[in-house]
Amino acid sequence: MEKIRAAITGINAWVPEYKLTNQALSKMVDTSDEWIMKRVGVKERRILKGKGRGSSDLGEQAVRGLLLKTNTAPEDVDLLICSTVTPDMFFPATANIISDKCGIKNAFSFDLNAACSGFLFALQTGAAYVETGRYKKVIIVGADKMSSITDYTDRTTCPLFGDAAGAVLLEPTTDEFGIIDYIFHTDGSGRKYLHLKAGGSVKPASHETVNAKEHFLYQEGQAVFKFAVLNMADVAAEIMERNNLKSEDIAWLVPHQANLRIIEATGRRMGLPPEKVMINIENYGNTTSATIPLCIWEYEQKLKKGDILILAAFGGGFTWGSIYLKWAYDPK
Ligand code: UT7
Repeated sequence: MEKIRAAITGINAWVPEYKLTNQALSKMVDTSDEWIMKRVGVKERRILKGKGRGSSDLGEQAVRGLLLKTNTAPEDVDLLICSTVTPDMFFPATANIISDKCGIKNAFSFDLNAACSGFLFALQTGAAYVETGRYKKVIIVGADKMSSITDYTDRTTCPLFGDAAGAVLLEPTTDEFGIIDYIFHTDGSGRKYLHLKAGGSVKPASHETVNAKEHFLYQEGQAVFKFAVLNMADVAAEIMERNNLKSEDIAWLVPHQANLRIIEATGRRMGLPPEKVMINIENYGNTTSATIPLCIWEYEQKLKKGDILILAAFGGGFTWGSIYLKWAYDPK
């Protein structure tokens, strides 16, 4: 029997209109455009405004557009997986809410949380379903309203994050395209450097947790930076070696967009010239689960059938990993 692979056959992303610029941020906290551009590489980020709107609203827009773009009837979708660290609520899963809002009625859906590596973990999970031969149309959506867990009085974290969603359609193929290989890692001992302190079962929400600002993301930036630089570059190099790929074989590196310096270090380690590295951190900041589909969506018109892409991410948990795929279609 021919091997079934999962190929991305369509991609879409969605960002809210409102732009929070470095100039605006420097009126809120003691920071500057110069510091943020030099240390992180972000110029502006998008923020979802409006009461009662959450990650499912971001995801809904990305998925609706994807269904339209790929001419997919919502009832034909078999499975939808949402990667998020900012679910609408603890339960039900944001994936279920997105499915409901998009009229996806014949699918099962669930959330997956691997922080900034979440989209990659979800993509591979969806691919594994497709590879069984039983699932023909699988949607992977990364959606995060990071502004909901960002403390806009903390200059060490508030310049970093933004809100966005990105979604892909996975379909089976027996050609040499699609997802070829992946390497994933987790190290839970890194949790002390990047987490949300309260609101979970260990420390449920209380007046004390609210007063102590424990419902906002906590990060020890320097420690995370060291692990991220090392591990994201290592895992990208590892997947190249395992598949006998040389830098000239690779059309694009698609890195998680947390810090321009981490992105550049990964590209250098892989021996890639800067023009082969997808970068859009300047316009959106770190959108956690959405960075990778948002990047590919922006570069979609430059991708050709057969292009080799290496996707790489590092995030809270710690989690990190890399996916090697062959792009399955020419620009439309
Ligand atoms: O996606 C999930 C994984 N997350 C990451 O990959 C993030 C990894 N970490 C980073 O990207 C970087 O560590 C940050 C961008 C978060 C911080 O950059 P850094 O170069 O590591 O800065 P730092 O934390 O070492 O701070 C250097 C100085 C400090 O001042 P002193 O102590 O040297 O006087 C900070 O207080 O910069 C100061 N600082 C700022 N200054 C102006 C920190 N934030 C700001 C700011 N504006 N926004």
